[in-house]
Amino acid sequence: MTDRVSLRPAEMKDAETLFIWRNDPATREASHNQDVIGLDAHIKWLSSSLNKPDLRLLWIAEMDGVAVGTCRADRLENAWELSWTVAPEARGKGFAHQMLSKLVRGFDEPLVAQVKAGNIASMKLAERAGFALDKQEHGVLFYVYPNTFSMAD
Ligand SMILES: CC(C)(COP(=O)(O)OP(=O)(O)OC[C@H]1O[C@@H](n2cnc3c(N)ncnc32)[C@H](O)[C@@H]1OP(=O)(O)O)[C@@H](O)C(=O)NCCC(=O)NCCS
Repeated sequence: MTDRVSLRPAEMKDAETLFIWRNDPATREASHNQDVIGLDAHIKWLSSSLNKPDLRLLWIAEMDGVAVGTCRADRLENAWELSWTVAPEARGKGFAHQMLSKLVRGFDEPLVAQVKAGNIASMKLAERAGFALDKQEHGVLFYVYPNTFSMAD
């Protein structure tokens, strides 16, 4: 498939789109915090996230100028932790794979990702993007990139 998804940094103007995606049932099901988030709390979260780029990075994936997904990287001590969501209406079209592969190629530091066991699409995505399974704990799979990295490092 032609790689047509582009990535740009998220901005405050993306607040409503990110809010809708965050409260989508499948997104909540895949998240540690499954609560429905209120708009005020979401706007505060986005604003504070955009103000600490040394600790958190947020991207919007676009297809022909339309937002189709988002990725987040959270700073850990020795790696960045990635998470991802595709717009509900844009799922199942290969956008997640393009978005994640592009993002991974742009990093020069180790990456980790937590995927709930049973989230088959995300397990496939992580593996196709080059992540390796490091460990499984309490129903959560911990993936690492590159495959020589371990969370115990
Ligand atoms: C998980 C998610 C990002 C996948 O996005 P997507 O754009 O549908 O993914 P893709 O189309 O790139 O498909 C990725 C792979 O998963 C497979 N897949 C997609 N949906 C699937 C499903 N419901 N069940 C099983 N496999 C599925 C695809 O066939 C593809 O596999 P392939 O590489 O063998 O062809 C999207 O469903 C989503 O945002 N879900 C809610 C939030 C979430 O789960 N985030 C991840 C938390 S770790």
